[in-house]
Amino acid sequence: MGPSCGMRLLAPNLRCPYAAPMAEIRVVQLSDTHFLADGEEAEGGAAYDTDAAFDAVFDAIEADAEPLDLVVVTGDVADHGRSAQYRKAADAFERFGVPVNVCPGNHDFVTPFAAGMGRTGVSTSRVIEIGEWAFVFVDSSAGVMSPDASGLAVDPPGEERLHNNGCLGQAEAAWVRQICESVTVPHVFIWLHHPPGPPLPLCFDEDYAAEWRAVVGDLPKLRGMAGGHTHVPDAYEFESVPVWVAGSFKNSFSMDPQMWLPPAYRSYVFSDDGTVTSENRYAADNDELWPRKPFGRTLKSLFMGEIGYDELRQIAAERAAAG
Ligand SMILES: [Fe+2]
Repeated sequence: MGPSCGMRLLAPNLRCPYAAPMAEIRVVQLSDTHFLADGEEAEGGAAYDTDAAFDAVFDAIEADAEPLDLVVVTGDVADHGRSAQYRKAADAFERFGVPVNVCPGNHDFVTPFAAGMGRTGVSTSRVIEIGEWAFVFVDSSAGVMSPDASGLAVDPPGEERLHNNGCLGQAEAAWVRQICESVTVPHVFIWLHHPPGPPLPLCFDEDYAAEWRAVVGDLPKLRGMAGGHTHVPDAYEFESVPVWVAGSFKNSFSMDPQMWLPPAYRSYVFSDDGTVTSENRYAADNDELWPRKPFGRTLKSLFMGEIGYDELRQIAAERAAAG
């Protein structure tokens, strides 16, 4: 027997996940929360206060006053993949009165991530069926991992995971195929950190796009995919599959016009007939914490792939030295 709604007090806008049948499933996607422990500096700088960003997004979701079945977090939960950062993230995610399911990003290291996301109501399930849908959660950095002496898949030493733009790997690709064949519901939706083939040159990796090109054609139940990583909210098609991208809590941008944006999240409605609708939403404007201001030529050059992070850091250092 499943848990009774009476066992848990739900906030007024949160729907009991065990109520059935459901013609529509409502999901909120957070991504790139990049939590820091108190006093820590953000990797790469130019970051919002991610605690304040979470609070503001949480308030915005509550203000939406829409019933929710699930909250999904698509990676880069912690900024440096540290245990204290996951503790803070889990404390935050527990505040939702519905299940929260999380998949890892390139900033998430496998062991502290798995240990830190284990809470009542917060989990790292790989497959969740709700109604007519199977939500499949993919580790889009799995290809950088390799077995240790015991055979356990572990992250590579150094910063290879931290800086990858997506690497599915043969084992993860085979797992996606098998799971999508095995589920008995008619519709599949994939949640992952790295969206395949994003239009943003900084985050586009041809090898990773090729990995997904070789997979998506074999998934007749696939209705869409959603990720984060770029910190630029977006919606596009990859091999005729709709792809949605959520913004970030660390910093969020639009490319047209070229602007900084408030912390962003996405809402989704999944219907029994296989249709998906999604809307990009923002935390409330705050001119001190996340002003909507244009960004300059240097940041544009980074996004367009004309310069790398090392050049960006060098330019910033030269500007600081010049006063
Ligand atoms: Fe990120």
